[in-house]
Amino acid sequence: VRILVVGATGTIGRAVVEALQPRHAVIAVSLQQAAEQVDIGDPGSIRALYQRIGQLDAVVSTAGRAVFKPLSELSDSDFQLSLSNKLMGQVNLVRYGITNVRDGGSFTLTSGILARLPTPGGAAMSLANAGLEGFTRAAALELPRGLRINVVSPGWVAETLQAMGRDPAAGVAAVAVARAYVAALEGKSTGQVIEVLPP
Ligand SMILES: NC(=O)c1ccc[n+]([C@@H]2O[C@H](COP(=O)([O-])OP(=O)(O)OC[C@H]3O[C@@H](n4cnc5c(N)ncnc54)[C@H](OP(=O)(O)O)[C@@H]3O)[C@@H](O)[C@H]2O)c1
Repeated sequence: VRILVVGATGTIGRAVVEALQPRHAVIAVSLQQAAEQVDIGDPGSIRALYQRIGQLDAVVSTAGRAVFKPLSELSDSDFQLSLSNKLMGQVNLVRYGITNVRDGGSFTLTSGILARLPTPGGAAMSLANAGLEGFTRAAALELPRGLRINVVSPGWVAETLQAMGRDPAAGVAAVAVARAYVAALEGKSTGQVIEVLPP
């Protein structure tokens, strides 16, 4: 099957592409580094991508920026970026992509555990992540032609912690996070929030 992976060059996206590639035709998309590019913060760029790519069986998003800062320092533009990129960027990947995805196909988005387990500095991220989870549960009720939608909600990824100079043992390996996307894509579930937490 033909799968669009947006955010394919990222820590999670790379692991998802590796997990899917043996069995599926993956179209890797990212902001700058992949051969095929999109800016999910720009609705016109998403529409142009779907026009170039044509029919698909599934769309996976492992992209989306939100700002992590103390509440007192979060500016209007920090909230704007978090909402227009992580939240509406992924919502628009679904809205504009419906006509491109074949009957019975799926969307799999990415939120994050801050949707449910808050931490200081996470207000804008929790807002975007919880919004994605609410959108997913509701959109699942209305998608046409047997289309499915789910959202993967990862905790800290081990590779990300390592890159930040923190203990990777507190995180979940990218390869384990990737299995949640594969399960969402190859399974039958819809409207689900799939949490992937460290053991
Ligand atoms: N890593 C974690 O610990 C963790 C935990 C929970 C949730 N998450 C969420 O998971 C998602 C992916 O995280 P990650 O750590 O894998 O990110 P990452 O390593 O920073 O990779 C981000 C990916 O998204 C692409 N991208 C960035 N801005 C984009 C835009 N405007 N339009 C389209 N693509 C864009 C990047 O493309 P280029 O390479 O071309 O720039 C790259 O492929 C994020 O939403 C993050 O909040 C991550």
